[in-house]
Amino acid sequence: MTQILDGKHWSSVIESELAHAVESRKARGLKAPHLAAVLVGNNPASRAYVGHKVKACARVGFQSTLVERPEQITQEELLGIVNDLNTNPEVDGFIVQLPLPDHIDAAKVLEAVNPAKDVDGFHPVNAGKMALGLPCHWPATPMGIMTLLERSGIETSGKHAVILGRSDIVGTPMTLLLRRNGYPGNCTVTMCHSRTRDLHDHTRRADLLIAAIGKPHFVTADMVKPGVVIIDVGINRIADPSKASGHRLTGDVDFDQVAPKCSWITPVPGGVGPMTIASLMQNTLQACEAKHP
Ligand code: GUN
Repeated sequence: MTQILDGKHWSSVIESELAHAVESRKARGLKAPHLAAVLVGNNPASRAYVGHKVKACARVGFQSTLVERPEQITQEELLGIVNDLNTNPEVDGFIVQLPLPDHIDAAKVLEAVNPAKDVDGFHPVNAGKMALGLPCHWPATPMGIMTLLERSGIETSGKHAVILGRSDIVGTPMTLLLRRNGYPGNCTVTMCHSRTRDLHDHTRRADLLIAAIGKPHFVTADMVKPGVVIIDVGINRIADPSKASGHRLTGDVDFDQVAPKCSWITPVPGGVGPMTIASLMQNTLQACEAKHP
């Protein structure tokens, strides 16, 4: 029987843990964590994601600040904002929502973030520490997936994990985390990407399949073996005239076809998305506690 990896449920459990932690800090006379988000331009998906993050802050009692700037912002202006947030003692952690416009060197901007405030875990210092298994901020989506596997009690040791996608944000960190000596972890990991040959041969050998390629319904039933655990990271907007908005969100996995073959699968929406936000909040609390224990 197929079971659902319920990101909506586990993220609300984490949110109540975070709300308790905030109350306990306040009872000890300590400040609530404060997350800032920088949003450049008018990408509707980015705007929606940042909106979810700000709302999550309000639900758990965190302070939040949204810094919005137009598409035409210069690199120098953006670096100035990052520097202000780095030095602002009121802000515990912040994110720069990606993607940034083409004229901005995103790597330079991310490198300018103080690693202690880098609650997205994108700074090379945090990426390097994560690769070495040292304490640091993990990127929110891989962290949310690890938490979902852990809280759902999914066995990972000795399993063959196949990751579809090699992005810096999901595919690459996911590979590093699942190969570590810990739980969740101890997987044998195969990373597949756009140049991988005979992709189906790899995906059919997966005990755990992580799809993070951004192509709607890419993973079909013939690509997976019975009993597989599937994590669908895709959040793709597809046209749907039956919706008032004219679109709906769908994953990288053809859920209706594939789910009956799975032991566990994440839905979209309600799987990885809410876990990403909960993880960002956990990183922000951690950044705050490191500064004001
Ligand atoms: N764009 C897509 N995912 C993310 C994320 O986790 N953090 C940021 N800052 N931008 C993103």
